[in-house]
Amino acid sequence: MTTPNIIRIGHGIFYVTDLERSRQFYVDLLGLNVLHESPGALYLRGVEDREWTLKLELAPQAGIKHLAYRVATPADLDALVALAEAEGLPYRWESEQDRPRLLRMQDPFGVPVAFYAESQKYPWLLQSYHLHRGPGLQRIDHINVMSPQVEATLRWYMDRLAFRLSEYTEDDEGRIWAAWIQRRGGVHDLALTNGAGPRLHHFAYWMPDAMSILRACDILAGAKETDAIERGPGRHGISNAFFLYLRDPDGHRIELYTSDYITVDPDFEPIRWHLNDPRRQTLWGAKTPKSWFQEGSRMEAFEGGWVVPQEPALQGLPQHVI
Ligand SMILES: [Fe+2]
Repeated sequence: MTTPNIIRIGHGIFYVTDLERSRQFYVDLLGLNVLHESPGALYLRGVEDREWTLKLELAPQAGIKHLAYRVATPADLDALVALAEAEGLPYRWESEQDRPRLLRMQDPFGVPVAFYAESQKYPWLLQSYHLHRGPGLQRIDHINVMSPQVEATLRWYMDRLAFRLSEYTEDDEGRIWAAWIQRRGGVHDLALTNGAGPRLHHFAYWMPDAMSILRACDILAGAKETDAIERGPGRHGISNAFFLYLRDPDGHRIELYTSDYITVDPDFEPIRWHLNDPRRQTLWGAKTPKSWFQEGSRMEAFEGGWVVPQEPALQGLPQHVI
């Protein structure tokens, strides 16, 4: 069977319950650029994105519609259909703004995923500095999915979709609690974290530098929206990235992220972290709030309704939790 060539994480579609409140958060405060607007929907991008990367869709209940990857050619979509047929995974063809052929699938673990090869591109705004707003969110970077079966999910994405392992968290018994895997050559397009799921843990944008992340904090403080700040700013041990976690008005978690490293060197070797090494999550040793481990966004089921989260096979929290 041909292995599909996935280029990168491409977009997420979030169901939101108050589009104007979400616009205030994502556009007025965080400064994402509105590429398209239609009744009940906003299509947003960072200044380096040449396509929309986050769609906010008005809905009665909050959740995640799907998470989409860009593939190299239409033949890669055919390869994904062959994979779905071979493994009995549900799939159908859909379309979205600028993306006429979107292959909507459900992975074996219940995650609503989609794939597209063709997408209308637009001039980036990277050097249109006069149009930059807020802290300057630059480009889509990665997603993080809470998974009750991290190791099996990791193996499927590596074996079937040729994701490559960057870093992982392991306990004394050799059980994997979390993994960071990539197609694009950064640390990750997809992270898998042990927890009840599948649920979306977070959706991350790359930032120009650490100062822009501090500016995001200042902007939220000025707007008296500090309740949106859940964790950080800080520096991860895993990925070495400088980070900040925010919760949007519906509780969807957004990470602002910068300064990780490349993994394209052919001799790159995955980095192992022990589950109870506090530096893996915050290099400076700061504790992580319990909400960060326990809360996430539910995902839409293939036939509608919500995927019912399954309890994780691995139970318990690491020691450095408040
Ligand atoms: Fe992340």
